[in-house]
Amino acid sequence: MSATGFKPHGSIPAWFASEEGMLLIGGCGAASLVDEAGDTPLFVYDMAVVEAQIRHFRDVMPPDLLLHYAIKANPYAPLLERMVPLVDGFDIASGGELTMALAAGQAADHISFAGPGKRDDEIAAAIAAGVTLNLESEGEAMRALAIASRTGVTARLVVRVNPNFDLRGSGMRMGGGARPFGVDADRAAALARHLIDAGADWRGWHIFAGSQALDPLALIETQAATIALAASLSEAVGATPPLVNLGGGFGLPYFPGDARLDIRPIGVALGEALATRPPVLRDSRFALELGRWLVGEAGVYLTRVVDVKDSQGERFVVVDGGLHHQLAASGNFGTVVRRNYPIALANRFDSPPADAPVTVVGCLCTPLDRLGDRVALPPVEVGDLVALFLAGAYGATASPTAFLGHPPPCEMLVG
Ligand SMILES: Cc1ncc(COP(=O)(O)O)c(C=O)c1O
Repeated sequence: MSATGFKPHGSIPAWFASEEGMLLIGGCGAASLVDEAGDTPLFVYDMAVVEAQIRHFRDVMPPDLLLHYAIKANPYAPLLERMVPLVDGFDIASGGELTMALAAGQAADHISFAGPGKRDDEIAAAIAAGVTLNLESEGEAMRALAIASRTGVTARLVVRVNPNFDLRGSGMRMGGGARPFGVDADRAAALARHLIDAGADWRGWHIFAGSQALDPLALIETQAATIALAASLSEAVGATPPLVNLGGGFGLPYFPGDARLDIRPIGVALGEALATRPPVLRDSRFALELGRWLVGEAGVYLTRVVDVKDSQGERFVVVDGGLHHQLAASGNFGTVVRRNYPIALANRFDSPPADAPVTVVGCLCTPLDRLGDRVALPPVEVGDLVALFLAGAYGATASPTAFLGHPPPCEMLVG
């Protein structure tokens, strides 16, 4: 906290500008977007930002690398439909996401289904549709084989491996210890061999070590270790995997002091690692599976000021949104210390800040519902629009929207 009591917030992405003081999103004023959507709170997703991110990925990554979108980050239907031709596959995590991916027009053989706790009906639906199952355990594998043999369909199966390393510095660790995700590395080859012998269509490996990393070197190290692990497992199986899903982990600069991830060195290192890969992987394809990095920066959450009140020398700005739509920005979705996401007053975007901080709180009756803690904003009035940035991933569908019976947020796609 500074001497004047302000706390910093994350950087607003550099491309945001304003016209006559009004924040522009995809070239449109925030207030007109709210009018068009009909209400606040509103998530606006700018497809041009997503497209630019994907273009950048294609420019700097090895040419044959496949790009999969983990739709858990944002399954908004109009966005999914636009994603289909831009990426090489969707990763899903439930029967519900299977329905969404197919409804968006994604081909079943470009969909992979990962995640623990798949029920028999979800496995059956995926096998019937021709979707690839990323198996999280031996038990799940046996259920998938039994369902496939009962229905007479050859199952497309990948073994998800719990690697013996994690992604250094990642916000969410998903390997390198006892985990509910994947089969421990020392048992993965035996399972793949069993699948092949049972007549399944073994599609390869899924090795996802972590999420939300901002250090290129950590990602480079992890990708190298992942390729080495995939090679040694494949040698143990005695077969070339058609696909090696190297996981993802590309993070976003949500917080003060975070720098935007530079993916260029990752592309160079991955190009070299693939060019010199062991012979057992010579005929394999490789994929990265990204969620937030593709869509997070494209989203802005707009919420209207309902009340401005003072309490014991502190000013509170109360908005009609909150953690029921933006759990992550409130600091309650996997963060240890609460820090401020990028935030601004959308309708006075270029005005200087007031000389005292304000705390932006949501409309839920819990002290956890804070969207901006002692932040610098221009003087705020009832009716103003507060914008939270980096809101395109893990917002509407990763928050407790039913809590306290408030309406779901509006969503719209521009660009
Ligand atoms: C298997 C799997 N794939 C992809 C993702 C997406 O991660 P991110 O949005 O950080 O890219 C996750 C996140 O938890 C995951 O568990």
